[in-house]
This record gives sequence, structure tokens and C-alpha cells, in this order.
Amino acid sequence: MSVTELFDRAAGRSRMDRTTIRRPDDFHVHLRDGAMLQAVLPFTAAQFARGIIMPNVVPPVTTVAAAIAYRERILAARPQASDFIPLMTCYLTDATAPDEIENGFKDGVWAAAKLYPAGATTNAHHGVTDIPGLAPVFERMEKIGMPVLIHGESTDPEVDIFDREAVFMEQSMLPLLKRHEGLKVVIEHVTTAETLELVRAHARHAAATITPHHLVINRTSLFQGGLRPHLYCLPVAKRERHRLALRQAATSGEACFFIGTDTAPHRRTAKEAECCSAGVFGGATALQTYVQVFDEEGALDRFEAFASENGARFYGLELNRGTITLERREATVMAAVAVEDTEVVVFQGGQTLPWSIGEVSP
Ligand code: NCD
Ligand code: ZN
Repeated sequence: MSVTELFDRAAGRSRMDRTTIRRPDDFHVHLRDGAMLQAVLPFTAAQFARGIIMPNVVPPVTTVAAAIAYRERILAARPQASDFIPLMTCYLTDATAPDEIENGFKDGVWAAAKLYPAGATTNAHHGVTDIPGLAPVFERMEKIGMPVLIHGESTDPEVDIFDREAVFMEQSMLPLLKRHEGLKVVIEHVTTAETLELVRAHARHAAATITPHHLVINRTSLFQGGLRPHLYCLPVAKRERHRLALRQAATSGEACFFIGTDTAPHRRTAKEAECCSAGVFGGATALQTYVQVFDEEGALDRFEAFASENGARFYGLELNRGTITLERREATVMAAVAVEDTEVVVFQGGQTLPWSIGEVSP
């Protein structure tokens, strides 16, 4: 608990009106490239000290050289005085070589590798078609202690979209966890109560990220008054019981759950289209949304663990030193962020949120 909070308590305030925590990290962020990178990076950099950068740009980041070049473009796009640190990930393909993984990890370029089942989501067509076939890569990662981050959805078009996570867990995740008992696995953007249980049962070497939007919306939200393209992401939001389970897990303090916003900006033109791209741009409202959830669940005292400690510990990273303050102060968030001749719609954009970001000290 922060000093401010202790004073609040001593003064007999019944609720916390601010909370100061160690600076958090975002363990799952899509920053894209070019004009989009310029437009969205300031929001992530204002909220988080570090970000695990998703490699599904075009072309995907599959080599150490490509990761170094992308990291340079991100560093160059940071707002002045920003100390945001991008941590790079390797996009796994059927052709990934164990040496490329180990060399980049030992040189401090790779923080993790990302596994997209081929075709599972945006820019995943170069992904992995044969997960057991990557055993040599996983064995090497196990040996060097490098985490693999998994988009856990079946790509079988016959599988109902709301069941794709469950089917993947059964058919691919459980066997993988069993084959590689020392491999650090992060199940990304978890969306079901059953996957949460799976993570808990394997918490010795498995963990999961939880997005802000999956704590707020359920599958009915996607159809509220009409089709809501800006709430469409993968994995798609599930039933209310799953949302409630996610809120319980995130706010539980359990070490295997941490922030991964999956902020995934797409142009308005790509969202409001005949075939809407998957992805929610949560980067501008992430901490405000998370802290609101913790407040509503009466768990503000556990926010720091979820936001700033659990993920770093799982990855084996040092904890950040600075602090950020979240304040109970209403603010109407911007509806959209301009990108070239179009814009990206902000998750919760245009709404008045009860919490705002206060002081950040590096
Ligand atoms: C992501 C994207 O747009 O890159 N989309 C999404 O719906 N979450 C990819 C991903 O993480 O699935
Ligand atoms: Zn993602």
C-alpha cells in the first residue's frame, strides 16, 4: 500500500480515491508500423514502462535482424522524453530455427516467441501448421528459459467460433504442456472460465494475460442494438459467466495472471467493412479500465500485483522502479485517434470513465 493510501485510511476515508503502484508493463501489445505506430505508441508509452511487442506486422518479425530494426523504429517513434522499452518477440513459423531463437534471446533481443496457429487471427497466415513439429524449438526455449506466448484458438473452420479456445486447449495446449514440462507458456488473452482453470492447474510453468475488454464486454455486447465492429476481436468475447470468471481471476492476486491489453488498432475503414478486421484498440484506456474493474471488485489492494509484478516475475524481468498514480477523477475519453486520412476508434471512447491517470514518476 502506498503512503497516500495509508494517510487516506488514517483519515478514515471509506474508499480509496487514488492508488499509487509500481509502473506496470503491458505483456501483449500490437504497435503496428509506420503511421499507425506513430499514432498509437504515445498511448501505450504513457501508461506502461515496457511492452511485449507482438510480431504480426507485415512482413512478420521472424529474424533477430528484423526484430532489431523494428525495435529501432519503435524507439524512434516514442514521444520526446518517453522511456518506454519495447521487448521484442519472435513470430514462430514451421521453419523457425532453434539457433535463431537462442542467439536472439542470449543477445537480449527476444524476450519471448509468439505462436499463432496458422490463420488464427490478423496476419497469422505465416503461423505454425504443426505444433508438435516445433519440438526442437520448444526444447531449446525450455533449456534457456524463454517463454512461448500462445494464441490459443483452433483454426478448424468447422469449429464454432465460441468454442475455438476450448478446442485448442484440449487438442493442442494440454498435450504441449505435457510434452514440455519445463517450458514457460503464456496463454494469451484468455477468455473462458475453463482456460483459467487450466492455467491454475499448470501454474508452475503456465500463466495467462487478461485484456481490459474481456473484463468489460461479453458476447452479447457485440450485438447490443446492432452489430458492434469495434468490439470484435479474437478470441471473441464469450458468455457472461466467463467475463465474471475473468474478473475474479484478474483481481484474485494469483501470480499466474497479469496484464496483456492486446491493444490491436485497426483503421475505422477496416473495422466498418464488409469483412471486419479482428482487434480492439484498448491502448488509450487500458489502465483506467483495469483499475475500475479492481475498484468495482473491491480489490484495489491487489491491482499492483496484476499490473506490475506477476508478469515481470513470470518472464524473469526486473520489476520497474518508478510509480504511476491512478485517481478517482472522471474524464471523458477521446472517441478516436487520427491516423492519416482515417482514424482508430478507442475502446470505451467517448465515454466518461470514473478513473484517470495521474502522476508518473520514472
Ligand atoms: C490482433 C491483431 O489485430 O493483430 N487481433 C485481435 O483480435 N486480437 C491479433 C491477435 O492478437 O489475435
Ligand atoms: Zn494480440
